[in-house]
Amino acid sequence: MKDEIGKILQSLELRARKCHRCELSKTRLNVVFGAGPETAEVMVVSEAPGATEDQTGIPFTGAAGKKLDGLLAEAGLDRNSVYICNVLKCRPPGNRDPLPEEIEACRPFLVGQISAIKPKLIVALGRIAAGELLGRRVAMAMEHGTLVDCVYCGVKFKLFITYHPAAGLYGAEAGRRLREDFKKLGAIIEAIRRTTFLQ
Ligand code: URA
Repeated sequence: MKDEIGKILQSLELRARKCHRCELSKTRLNVVFGAGPETAEVMVVSEAPGATEDQTGIPFTGAAGKKLDGLLAEAGLDRNSVYICNVLKCRPPGNRDPLPEEIEACRPFLVGQISAIKPKLIVALGRIAAGELLGRRVAMAMEHGTLVDCVYCGVKFKLFITYHPAAGLYGAEAGRRLREDFKKLGAIIEAIRRTTFLQ
């Protein structure tokens, strides 16, 4: 089973590396497909690669990555135990917001990742990721720190909504809200572990 999921992800990644479905393929240095164990029960979905990720080809390797590692630790999670990816696999120039047509062009890759991994819980970082997974606009001020039932591409999972970790780089108040959300996430994961086999 593990090998099968690995093969599906590998072939999907090869397709992503050759993808020219949108204009971002012209400016990217690397496709940032995703990283983590294919058996992960927790998945982290964010917006799009930044400059460092564009260079390394690995998600969350820049300043926001350091922040994310610390936040995951607040929730009792090790980065190596979760699967991390983005809605877009290529960097939007200047880190601008993804365009709707880019999200649509890239959707088959996220659908493929979620269908293959079938996580029990997804942590959505920011309104773009939460909006894509829920198929609606998300009001972060109201909805951050909440856990909702979600069905995406026919896969059911719990979705935890929180801010993008970069928000924590820009202000003490945003940083405090992020840390509180991740502490709450830790308690949620503990509770799920008590009732299921989430490791
Ligand atoms: N920000 C994101 O949303 N994703 C990354 O991979 C890095 C920074």
